[in-house]
Amino acid sequence: LRIFVPGDAGALAVGADAVADAIRVAASERGLAVEIIRNGSRGATFLEPLVEVETPAGRVAYGPVAPGDVGELVAAGLFEGRGARLFHGPADAIPFLKSQTRFTFARCGIVDPASIADYAAHGGWQGLAKAAAMDRPAIVDLVTKSGLRGRGGAGFPTGIKWKTVLETEAPRKFIVANADEGDSGTFADRILMEGDPFLLIEGMTIAGFACGAEKGYLYIRSEYPHSIARMETAIAAARAAGYLGANVAGSGRAFDMEVRVGAGAYVCGEETALLESLEGKRGQVRAKPPLPAHKGLFGAPTAINNLITLGSVPFILSEGAEAYAAVGYGRSRGTMPVQLAGNIRQGGLYEVGFGVTLGELVNEIGGGTLTGRPVKAVQVGGPLGAYFPPSLFDTPFDYEAFAARDGLIGHGGVVVFDDSVEMAEMARFALEFCSIESCGKCTPCRIGSIRGVEVMDEIIAGRDVDANAALIEDLCETMKFGSLCALGGFTPYPVLSALNHYPGDFGLTPDLAT
Ligand code: NAI
Ligand code: SF4
Repeated sequence: LRIFVPGDAGALAVGADAVADAIRVAASERGLAVEIIRNGSRGATFLEPLVEVETPAGRVAYGPVAPGDVGELVAAGLFEGRGARLFHGPADAIPFLKSQTRFTFARCGIVDPASIADYAAHGGWQGLAKAAAMDRPAIVDLVTKSGLRGRGGAGFPTGIKWKTVLETEAPRKFIVANADEGDSGTFADRILMEGDPFLLIEGMTIAGFACGAEKGYLYIRSEYPHSIARMETAIAAARAAGYLGANVAGSGRAFDMEVRVGAGAYVCGEETALLESLEGKRGQVRAKPPLPAHKGLFGAPTAINNLITLGSVPFILSEGAEAYAAVGYGRSRGTMPVQLAGNIRQGGLYEVGFGVTLGELVNEIGGGTLTGRPVKAVQVGGPLGAYFPPSLFDTPFDYEAFAARDGLIGHGGVVVFDDSVEMAEMARFALEFCSIESCGKCTPCRIGSIRGVEVMDEIIAGRDVDANAALIEDLCETMKFGSLCALGGFTPYPVLSALNHYPGDFGLTPDLAT
């Protein structure tokens, strides 16, 4: 009998180890031979720990299971896969999971992330096999045709970035995966690393084949110890099985990779600060140009991509560019793993084609607020993303549609707030966050953020509100256009959106706001 109890950090945080132990004890008391597999999360975090039991008719699910529930569930027929309290029937039929379009996360929560054989058995390495039979420009062309754009937030076409690296003459080149997932309300990188690690090895290797790079670095934030351990084990297993090394899977091409761990700075998610950090220096932003694609890690041409971008590549190779591009909206092709967090009833990871509206995500898929109070604001795209009020819930999830409404989709984080939130405090928080995380290289960000906190304190205290609000707008203008990188440049988004959509929270009458 096979039972799945997720072993990723999210499930562990809500007691998955104790649940697994309780099941093991109950099974041995009954003399049952049970194999407990520590899978990754399927992404329905509101149901974690989500326990699945394999039956002749497929896997059935129970959740959220607390250790104290196990006795009752076993008595009601858990080992036979029968119904009970917390029973959801077939796992694949849970509405939150069934309604998704899973390209990148197709195997996540299903396979045993410790087993390279399970990865192969579920269609793994097929993209790599296709890439091994193609020349470099053909791989780059395929990725360009798929329409894949950078999932870090900027949405730059991946194929064009790879073409730049490929066409830059140099004795050595690098692939760098950015898993410095620092945005509030985001966890897609973590779920993928802990649920399907070999996919990322496959994606990075394909990128290496495409760009002519033989070495890759996977940069993971230090706050993700389970991801680090999972990826290191997977890399060792892939190397032992011949999927990394001098002759990858008999292709005659070389590629190898290693994990590097960050040290807790948000700005190291910015690509050039990340490269500095990888070189062993303080994580400070470099001026561009030169682009990393021309002169990146150790001065060599470097394809630096978000982890989800690289995780999307095996599907594109194995299923074809058309299959990927067939889903999406406008210039945003394929799927996005949207992460629903904050005050939301059904939080979790939801992979869906671009074009789903913000309102569908929050109210239908997420089920509204957990408190049951009305939604007041939704922050999309991390701590530097704009706040959207319900009146903008018709905005489709799409890079251009969000930009047209002074927002960004960033890495796909959606954080929901109910009507108890004070938006002036949130604006202050954005500026304070920037002042703490600023790398200090440029003045608008380093000094502007501190000055912004001081001015917000005046507004919150109700002193000279109109003049101080005008000062904040002026300061935001300077930060937006005068900062060297997105940290200083995007901090105005949450501040101005809060000011513009919720002037009453700043003590302004609505018509004083711009
Ligand atoms: P960018 O627009 O300067 O560059 C995007 C990517 O394309 C970079 O990797 C850059 O090196 C590459 N690139 C640009 N032109 C190229 C060319 N001709 N050939 C090859 N590669 C080229 O954006 P940046 O500074 O990397 O990031 C800013 C973006 O980050 C913002 O647009 C925002 O949407 C997003 N953002 C994301 C956040 C997050 O936490 N995920 C937070 C704040 C902003
Ligand atoms: Fe550094 Fe801020 Fe300037 Fe970016 S905007 S380079 S984080 S000081």
